[in-house]
Amino acid sequence: MAIYAMTGGATGIGAAIKQQLRDAGHELIVVDIKDADILADLSTTEGRDSAVAGIIERSPHGLDGFVACAGLGPAAPAPLLLQVNYFGAKATLEGLREHLAKKQGSAVLIGSNSGAMPHFDQAKIDAMLADDEAHACALAEKSNHGQLAYLSSKRAITQWMRRNATAFARAGVRLNAVAPGFTQTPLTDAAKADPELAQSMAQFERSIPLGRAGQPEDIANAVGFLLSEQSAFVQGSVLFVDGGSDAMIRPDQF
Ligand code: NAI
Repeated sequence: MAIYAMTGGATGIGAAIKQQLRDAGHELIVVDIKDADILADLSTTEGRDSAVAGIIERSPHGLDGFVACAGLGPAAPAPLLLQVNYFGAKATLEGLREHLAKKQGSAVLIGSNSGAMPHFDQAKIDAMLADDEAHACALAEKSNHGQLAYLSSKRAITQWMRRNATAFARAGVRLNAVAPGFTQTPLTDAAKADPELAQSMAQFERSIPLGRAGQPEDIANAVGFLLSEQSAFVQGSVLFVDGGSDAMIRPDQF
């Protein structure tokens, strides 16, 4: 049996990943702001450091895999979105790289199919990729646009993954992303309840080619594949699990 760690296991997609890994008999260390083995707020430097240290302490011989799943949706405050979705994910992935290397582990991050869409804020993305958290958050505060901050955070973390996939491979660690589409979770429930987002969310949900929203288990199945030996030659990939939305919107890009 393997030993894994993850962030964001309390609800939604993360809870489904947690259930599948534990049902399969694996050991799993969960980091979250609530209901977790390690309570940590990934929007802060202290929280990120204590998450990484806590995981390493609980898995002294290394990790077979790590899933950076914690994230906030477009209804959250714009600066917080960047802090959790980009800086929190990046800090935990970087902080655990050497630890994953001890067991030739697999790291998976949860991006989003929205990260591939043509709407984003390049200035925020540049600040994130330059690791300038203060500037990225100041830009987000100024524009105060949750949806744009969300799309930009997911695009940036996916670009970060692509840029780092080679170095991770050379260090003996696999690194890939799952890009879910609209999935029924507390995150999308909150967005649907937000008057400014309700209409576009409903429209997007109705447009899914396979005719239904994703369920957390749909995404967990893909994460399970990327953690497993079945994906041993997969590196730097973005696996869209979105009922066909990305292919519908960007048919000629892959
Ligand atoms: P969710 O709200 O059910 O789960 C998010 C998890 O992250 C929760 O367990 C929450 O407590 C944790 N979290 C939030 N802020 C945190 C913080 N500061 N520190 C530590 N943990 C924190 O939402 P869902 O939908 O399950 O989202 C999981 C991931 O999937 C996110 O990264 C999200 O952006 C991504 N995603 C979700 C989609 C959807 O349609 N639901 C679509 C595309 C991507």
